[in-house]
Amino acid sequence: MALTRREITKWLGVAGSSAAAFKYGYAAELDEARKPSRNVDGNGAHVLIIGGGVAGLTTAYELEQVGYRTTVVEARTRLGGRNWTWRDGEKVEHRDGQQTVRLSEGDYFNAGPARIPGFHTNLLSYCREFGVALEPFVYENQNAYFLSDACRNGERMRHRHARYSVYSALEEVALEGLKYGVLTEGMDAAQKKSIETFLRLRTMNAGPFDGSYRGGMDKHFDASTTMPVGLEPIPLAELARSPALAISMSTFDMIEWQTSLMQPVGGMDRVIAGFDRHVKAERLMGTELVGLSQDDDGVACQVRERRNGEVRTLNADYCVVTAGLSVLASADLQLSEKHTKAVAEAAGRYAKTSKVAWSAKRRFWEQDDGIYGGASSIDGPAVQFWYPSFGFGKDTGVILGAYTAGPNAEIWNDLSLEQQLAKSAGYGRRLHTAFDDEVVGGYNIDWMDQPYSKGGWAWLMDGPEAPEGSAYAVLRNPDRRIAFAGDYLSQLSGWQEGAILSAHRAVAAITEPAQQTMQQG
Ligand code: PHE
Repeated sequence: MALTRREITKWLGVAGSSAAAFKYGYAAELDEARKPSRNVDGNGAHVLIIGGGVAGLTTAYELEQVGYRTTVVEARTRLGGRNWTWRDGEKVEHRDGQQTVRLSEGDYFNAGPARIPGFHTNLLSYCREFGVALEPFVYENQNAYFLSDACRNGERMRHRHARYSVYSALEEVALEGLKYGVLTEGMDAAQKKSIETFLRLRTMNAGPFDGSYRGGMDKHFDASTTMPVGLEPIPLAELARSPALAISMSTFDMIEWQTSLMQPVGGMDRVIAGFDRHVKAERLMGTELVGLSQDDDGVACQVRERRNGEVRTLNADYCVVTAGLSVLASADLQLSEKHTKAVAEAAGRYAKTSKVAWSAKRRFWEQDDGIYGGASSIDGPAVQFWYPSFGFGKDTGVILGAYTAGPNAEIWNDLSLEQQLAKSAGYGRRLHTAFDDEVVGGYNIDWMDQPYSKGGWAWLMDGPEAPEGSAYAVLRNPDRRIAFAGDYLSQLSGWQEGAILSAHRAVAAITEPAQQTMQQG
């Protein structure tokens, strides 16, 4: 039985990923089609936007392009929401107490989004528009490690060694099958030859690894008279002991994570800085949503300023709620019955996710292990270590020491801060002998426990079609003058691109009511 994309995304806690992305392969043609029209005139109508993350800022920016007045209400004292880049001095909440992140000059850590696929055309087009410079984000790195308690006595293996051992074995099976006509039924001789050549080239002609260094070698190329010897494949039976073998080997093949991936130069929050430079909206920072209601003429929104507790009412023509629904539980939202029900349902669907960051005074992964960017895979709840894709050759750096989702996030979120760091360090020192000597500080973020986020993402699309009356189907249509936007209202939940797509839809609902029906829907 094939490991389907559905199974993989389910394992990640984001079950029910978009089939459309597959069908279009590289869905660039969807880009312009979904952008709200700029051929309308808002005539100064006032829109309140709850939340200054990517969805909120996109909403403000697009509305401003067509003559609307906007106000962004943001509970935090920074814009960006989950798009959060840590630099030295950042304060990070944890159940066990607040952490102060200490990083070296020039180092940063993307605690939320960290990578941008090439098919996230809307986000990339804002980067272009706002002058946000991009650079490669290395995810797949054959020189990084695979680590499993179940294999090779828990000793690290280079990804290339583990992966090509598996691939070679499977190619051998396929070559053998060819002899019996498996899969080649109806093919002519040239087609069969072509398949065979492909397989033989992948197996380097004569059995696993023979004559090939693709699985690794016993020494580097040098100027001596003896060539390196290719490593023997690891027996399939040995690798098959790892319950996470399939996911570890296939993560780099998922459409979201295929090369090339990108990141903004200087940190993911450069995207937010770009919006910040171009959005005119009045910003009410440190201001929480208390209540929201509407009548035929407009919306009334009660907000509380956190610094003095003062509550006041803001009036506007429309409101777009972009805050995560899990944080709105305590707000008094006067919505239609079906929107009220949908908000409550969606609020309960937010998933946990955590990341660990380690600050290092020396880039041991580069200097000792020859790892420049990419990820080591761990058969355990920390899941992956990531190495920075910027600043190669610098002295100091920050590595990611865990990124959990799905069942692993459930385990991780139950640990104390001390246990989380100890667990990550346990893998760290097995991956890298210099880990303990060179690491100077560790930090953990559990997104479920972050005020004003209360979760990583909510995946509302359970299947290929959102049923009528489901939270997704209801919330994507406004309740009269109140619209919703956020990554959870797209097929790219947990992605900035999804936030943008949903914001475009919310904007169109206001600016093109004839097309989108600004009614209960
Ligand atoms: N976008 C996030 C990531 O790259 C979370 C995510 C994972 C979203 C898997 C969808 C699928 O890891």
